[in-house]
Amino acid sequence: MAKIIYIEHNGTRHEVEVKNGLSVMEGAVKNNIPGIDGDCGGACACATCHVYVDDAWRDKVAAPEDLETSMLEFAESVEESSRLSCQIVVSDALDGLTVRMPESQH
Ligand code: FES
Repeated sequence: MAKIIYIEHNGTRHEVEVKNGLSVMEGAVKNNIPGIDGDCGGACACATCHVYVDDAWRDKVAAPEDLETSMLEFAESVEESSRLSCQIVVSDALDGLTVRMPESQH
């Protein structure tokens, strides 16, 4: 289990416990957190789970693979800290991970 902190674009903060092995996207969808759609169910095929990883956590989250990097080209407002949250797997090491959601996923 790890506590994941999701911050909506409007600043609304959600702290939820997410089981190890689930993705950060699944943690949001299971807890009805708005701002992460996850339309493709985590197949890295829609880019509607785009988040910005908090600076303090960027070194602790594994680097994106090529497929994720190319899917991010379809997301809006991509920044250096952008990730697809379906590709970030929750583990104890990510306890306290903070991600921010973009204004829109479309
Ligand atoms: S849920 Fe579709 S790319 Fe992440």
